[in-house]
Amino acid sequence: MKTPLYNSLRDYGNKVQYRMHMPGHKSLEELYKTTGFHKEMLNLDLTEIEGVDSLFHPRSSLLEAQEIAANLYGAKESIFLVNGASIGIMASIMAVVGEGEELIIPRNAHRSVFNALLLAGVKPIYIMPEIDFDTGVAMGINPLEIERALTENPKAKGVLIAHPNFYGFCSDIEAIAKIVHKYDKVLIVDEACGSHFKFHKELPISGIEVGADLIVHGTHKNLPALTQSGILHIYSNRVDEKKLKHYLMMLQSSSPSYILLASLEIALKIVEEKGIDLFNSLFENISLLKESFKKIKGVKCLDNNLIGKYSIAGYDFSKVVINFQQLNLRGYEVEAILRDRYGIQCELSDPANILITFTIADSREVFSKVLAAIEEIATEAEIINDKGCLTEGPWHLPQLVYTPKEAENKGWQEIDISHAKGRVSAETLSSFPPGMPIIRAGERVDERVLELLKAYRDVKNIKVIIE
Ligand SMILES: Cc1ncc(COP(=O)(O)O)c(C=O)c1O
Repeated sequence: MKTPLYNSLRDYGNKVQYRMHMPGHKSLEELYKTTGFHKEMLNLDLTEIEGVDSLFHPRSSLLEAQEIAANLYGAKESIFLVNGASIGIMASIMAVVGEGEELIIPRNAHRSVFNALLLAGVKPIYIMPEIDFDTGVAMGINPLEIERALTENPKAKGVLIAHPNFYGFCSDIEAIAKIVHKYDKVLIVDEACGSHFKFHKELPISGIEVGADLIVHGTHKNLPALTQSGILHIYSNRVDEKKLKHYLMMLQSSSPSYILLASLEIALKIVEEKGIDLFNSLFENISLLKESFKKIKGVKCLDNNLIGKYSIAGYDFSKVVINFQQLNLRGYEVEAILRDRYGIQCELSDPANILITFTIADSREVFSKVLAAIEEIATEAEIINDKGCLTEGPWHLPQLVYTPKEAENKGWQEIDISHAKGRVSAETLSSFPPGMPIIRAGERVDERVLELLKAYRDVKNIKVIIE
């Protein structure tokens, strides 16, 4: 029998020597060597059975492992996840907000947030992130916007915020927590990309430190745990824990992988024991790299120099966003050149930027390879000083007619976009950057939506709800 999937994974390893993306372990055996974990995978591949405890009713070894994690992070309780941060986010939302109730969320929230709204019949109240119109990237959320949303929607059950956003930028989570709790609402922090924040003083503060109610970590992203491992931390008494655990059980596999759970424990052991040195050296290497980038003509690092602008209060130094707008190059092109010519795969690219994720698993060699590659690419490119605006601001919030669940249950038809004005969309159309929906299912198509669709998507037809 052919094994196309297995082959593609092995080929990937041959083609890409430098993995500048998640998972955080970057296949570095060195990190695991004191435990031997990487050599025992088949032996450890168990699920809930007598002797190894139960994910949904932990009483012994798993309970103890979770208690160790809670102590490490300073949470009241920490619950391990096997279906990624997505599942922690979905269960959190479903435990806090019910059918027909409201949740305040950023317009550019992760798709797990929208999936939970759809499943639970929740009505979203959107807040807009600020956008850096030079680079096209969606940045922070102004705490005053959250306050406005809370006063205008007093029945909202809570607020969900991503911390950091996908590019590593953080809003003022401390101010946001104070505001949300002033109104006695629940704050859910999607900290999928911030499970490492706790381990270095130069990293932003975590939602746990500011007393957020629920904080979700995707530990496979920035810590050396296996893909799909995560933690849901409970910090307060504002949430019905029974409901939360009920949804976690409903949404996750009934055969949770103990390899994932154990990898999570091992990752925490590594950072608890050696994290200071590992993160110090990561910080040093990245700082040197960024200094070197400053000397390359036409290349700009989006960095903590943005703190204080666009409602940004913190930046994750391990994410390196490089902007190529002054060169005659798109981010997509740089991503392809890095992969094809240098064996370097970055986390993502957009028209203007690439995002490289460094972790404690990256050796010095990786930094010099990345620097040499970017230097060469920039030297070959032409300086054009294109400061052109990548985002057709101002962005726009269309009228919400149906909740995501109501929209899902309606019939739809596909029509020519020229006839769409005034109709309610049955689909979601986004643009990247800024990584935000132009219209979501259940919202009314208006003049501005049509303008944005024209600028970004060249949409000929659109699915609309039959009314
Ligand atoms: C901000 C944010 N939240 C949630 C998630 C979902 O995390 P996971 O892939 O672990 O389910 C991601 C994934 O990239 C993310 O970037």
